[in-house]
Amino acid sequence: MIKAVRGTRDLLPPETALWNFVEAAARDVFRAYNFQEIRTPIFEETQLFARSVGEETDIVSKEMYTWEDRGRAQSDKGQSLTLRPENTAGVVRAYIEHKLWERGLSKLFYIGPQFRRERPQKGRYRQFYQIGAEAIGPATAGSESPARDAEVLELLATFLDRLGINDWNLELNSVGCPKDREGYNEALRKALEPVVGKMCADCQRRAVTNPLRVFDCKVPEDQPIIETLPRIGQFLDEGCRQHFEQVQDILKAVGVPFVLNDRLVRGLDYYTRTAFEFTHGALGAQNAILGGGRYDGLSESLGGPSAPGIGFAIGEDRLVLALKESAEAVMRKPDVYVAPLGAGMNREAARIARELRRHDVVVEMGDETFRLKKSFETASKMSAKFALIVGENEVKAGAFALKNLETGEQVSVPRGELPQKLQSNRNS
Ligand code: HAM
Repeated sequence: MIKAVRGTRDLLPPETALWNFVEAAARDVFRAYNFQEIRTPIFEETQLFARSVGEETDIVSKEMYTWEDRGRAQSDKGQSLTLRPENTAGVVRAYIEHKLWERGLSKLFYIGPQFRRERPQKGRYRQFYQIGAEAIGPATAGSESPARDAEVLELLATFLDRLGINDWNLELNSVGCPKDREGYNEALRKALEPVVGKMCADCQRRAVTNPLRVFDCKVPEDQPIIETLPRIGQFLDEGCRQHFEQVQDILKAVGVPFVLNDRLVRGLDYYTRTAFEFTHGALGAQNAILGGGRYDGLSESLGGPSAPGIGFAIGEDRLVLALKESAEAVMRKPDVYVAPLGAGMNREAARIARELRRHDVVVEMGDETFRLKKSFETASKMSAKFALIVGENEVKAGAFALKNLETGEQVSVPRGELPQKLQSNRNS
């Protein structure tokens, strides 16, 4: 038997109702903050991720699905392509390609699958979904302002609260600008020198190539050593320090709680200044429900103009796990089950169903092989609110027996009044 590939999964009903519920809420919130949707391709040139996420990150060095294109055109041949492991790089590429700065600040959101070859476990998949957003534009459009960081964080708090997920924790740090990091990397290298021999092979490599990435290490034995390392906070210049303070100041003013975490460096290289994660207790080991931050130099490093930006991506799989809501509660069930009584009634039943659906009534159709009792059973099983009986007598009289399956009450409703009657008694 052929099964879904390890780390991928089918999302089945009724769970898909939860996914739609979450996505609809996200779209509403994005609208209120004036973000608009962007859809970028699922695969991109490998170089895009190497140059943005960073060669030395876990994502690029070991988790990407990369292949060589076998295109027919000479220009395609041998091109290295990669399934997107995240969407910020694609959005910034699109920003540059379509000169989106010509419209000032671009506030874009996306919802879609991402791919990383990670070891699958609860809350961690090889194909997973992100709901993300990026606010990017020239500094003159306000993209650099700490008010923008605070706005994005406040949006996230609003969204989670609206979904009824209120036991989240916002962890906040500033990773400074590239100049701060030069000094910091130097200090890290020095601090690592005498101890790195006792650390894992990955850390030994990182200590040479990109010491900041040592903080990504999950090996338990390395943690006491990592605890002793200097932190970025001591290396921030005046501008970065002030920026970070102002972000915190606005968050306090709007009442978004946060904790400072000076170990938070994020697993991607493009970050500058504000970096954050929202964690959630109920998620176990994979407790980061979302992550994000500023990436003020990313556009330039991809050949674009200066375009400071900030964004985030929510792990939708994890978000759904954190919901208290049940799929059953958010799924729209049929308002009515249309039961044609005997052969020859299918035509009439189809006409009525079409009419009702035009009025946004959710209709499930039976067929002529079902006797009345079987129809009621089937209708109740799918939690339809009513059963509508379409028999010869009803058609002749122009009025139909409508049975409320919860109360057992049955009334005769003239054809013309059916849509209104069902609309006012709609299943929520
Ligand atoms: P990230 O921290 O790599 O950031 O991913 C964001 C979120 O995606 C994580 O917090 C997690 O919830 C979810 N996630 C990541 N990997 C997996 C996985 N294998 N299975 C399930 N969920 C996963 C980014 O991707 C950045 N692009 C965020 C960003 C946007 N920064 C600025 N703008």
